[in-house]
Amino acid sequence: MMTRLVAPSMLSADFANLSCDIEMVNKSQADWFHLDIMDGVFVPNISFGFPIVERVKSLATKPLDVHLMIVDPDRYLERFRDAGADWLTVHYEACPHLNRTLSQIKALGMKAGVSVNPHTPVENLIDILEYADMVLIMSVNPGFGGQSFISNSISRIERLRKLIDSKGLSTLIEVDGGVGPGNAKQLYEAGANVLVAGSAVFKTDNPFDAIERIKNA
Ligand code: DX5
Ligand code: ZN
Repeated sequence: MMTRLVAPSMLSADFANLSCDIEMVNKSQADWFHLDIMDGVFVPNISFGFPIVERVKSLATKPLDVHLMIVDPDRYLERFRDAGADWLTVHYEACPHLNRTLSQIKALGMKAGVSVNPHTPVENLIDILEYADMVLIMSVNPGFGGQSFISNSISRIERLRKLIDSKGLSTLIEVDGGVGPGNAKQLYEAGANVLVAGSAVFKTDNPFDAIERIKNA
C-alpha cells in the first residue's frame, strides 16, 4: 500500500479561533498541517508569515508542511526552519538554482519539496527528482483557496508517478488545490501520496468526517 497522507490547509481555518482549528487537526486523522505562505508577488495574494507558523508549531502535535509561494525563497529558508517547518516546499518557477535550494533545505534539517504550477510540465523535474523528498503538483493556480480542481492534473500525477517509479525513487507526490472527498480516491489511484485540502475540510460542518473521508477514500 502506498503512503496516503492528508494535510489540511490552514489557509481556510478561522484565524480568530486558530487554536480550535489546530486542536481539531491534532485530534483528527490528518497527518500534517499545510501552511501556505504567499508574498503578493509570486502569487496575487498575501497570506501570513512567521508569527502564525510559530504559533501553529507551538500547539501542533503533527509535522508542519510549509508551502512557499514567494519569490527568492533562499532568503528565508533558515527563518522557516526556526519557525518550525518540518517540510519546506519551494516553487520550481521561483528558483533559478533549484539544486542548491533543495540541498540547503536539507542541510538545515528539513525535508525538501518542489512545487510545479499547472502550466509547468512535470517532465521538467527529471533532473531534480532525486534531490527532492516531495513534489507538490498544484491542481489550481496558486494564490487562493476554494478554487476548482484543474482536471488535467490527474494525468500530470500519473506521468510524475511513472517518472519517479522508473528512477526507483521514493519521492512523495503531494496534490494541492480543489481536493476533497469527491476526488481523493482518483488522486491516490493516479499515484498521489499526500492530499492537501483547505475548504473541503474547514468549510464543512464536520471537518473530522471530511478528513476521514479523504484519508480513507
Ligand atoms: C492555494 C494553496 C492551497 C489552498 C488549497 O494556492 O496552495 O494550499 O489552501 O485550498 P483548497 O483546498 O480550498 O483548494
Ligand atoms: Zn498550498
